[in-house]
Amino acid sequence: MKNLVSGIQPTGIITLGNYLGAIKNFKLLQDNPDLKLFIFIADLHAITVSFPEKEKLRQQIRSLAAFYLACGLESEKTNLFIQSEVKEHAELGYIMQCLSHVGELNRMTQYKEKKAKGEASPTGLLTYPTLMAGDILLYDAEFVPVGDDQKQHLELTRDLAIRFNNRFGEVFKVPEPIIKPLGARIKSLTNPDKKMSKSDDNPKSYINMLETPAQIRNKIKSAVTDSDGVIRFDPENKPGISNLLIIYATVTNTEIKTVEAQFKDKSYAELKESLAQVITAEIEPIQARYNELINSPYLDEILNKGKENASFLAARKIKKVYDKIGLGRKLK
Ligand code: TYM
Repeated sequence: MKNLVSGIQPTGIITLGNYLGAIKNFKLLQDNPDLKLFIFIADLHAITVSFPEKEKLRQQIRSLAAFYLACGLESEKTNLFIQSEVKEHAELGYIMQCLSHVGELNRMTQYKEKKAKGEASPTGLLTYPTLMAGDILLYDAEFVPVGDDQKQHLELTRDLAIRFNNRFGEVFKVPEPIIKPLGARIKSLTNPDKKMSKSDDNPKSYINMLETPAQIRNKIKSAVTDSDGVIRFDPENKPGISNLLIIYATVTNTEIKTVEAQFKDKSYAELKESLAQVITAEIEPIQARYNELINSPYLDEILNKGKENASFLAARKIKKVYDKIGLGRKLK
């Protein structure tokens, strides 16, 4: 049995990028009987840029939990839990912070981008990848399914695991990222040179998975393309159209070549209309389940169970780490 770990920040918006790059993949992976999934709501990560309003944060955590289940994660196959409820995440995050160097954290692209936005730069934003390393190493994860933007954080995680093992002996598994060839970097609808991001100031650039079909259709309709009118998969010269083809292929689980052939002689408007339809068809049942789950006590039962299972492994791991380092007293 191999462990697999991944998380998403509860920021209130779950984008189509999060869904196609991460959640849709979790759903497929949970059906592999050789894998044990630990999927969490990364609430400690959601305070690294700024502290959201308290009630809002609570609501966003619950919303993401309901969303994961609505997408088909099942408690029999996946341990679903809230990061802050397993206190060892913060503990191992701190150890990883001490093991890392400021220079390597300063080099993280996501940190540089967020810092460049010119807002305040809390220390948590800089040390965030060390918390992420802790999240992963706590569970001896072999695999970490993520979108392309997390690749660098995974490389750091691997470096930190190796550094710890070299210094203190074999404690951590060195994890492998699972980054799908298609859908790992869904682009912004308004600027296909950038990734689709929930922190984008322009809401037209992303699709929020809880939006209405009408809102989705409008956003797809106004997606930036080009003026040559030919539907062809060519990310370099036709980033807008290529992004729409990738979204179509990932939503429908089709090869990009097949989608390209399907729309070869069609207009951009026809492609956009079909795309809006397939996205809506995918999202509507998820939204219906989400609405049933959001206020259901069943959600708490699942989160309790996930917390218990995760805590068991996390406690065992942190004890081993403290013993290796020599923290506290040696307990019998
Ligand atoms: P977050 O919350 O920004 O994103 C969640 C997941 O969605 C993927 N993703 C995308 N995939 C394709 N196209 C896009 N445009 C796109 N935007 C986002 C992300 O790559 C990610 O897989 N640090 C993480 C959360 C985290 C985590 C972890 C993940 C915390 N601890 C441990 C894995 C393991 C984050 O902020 O993801």
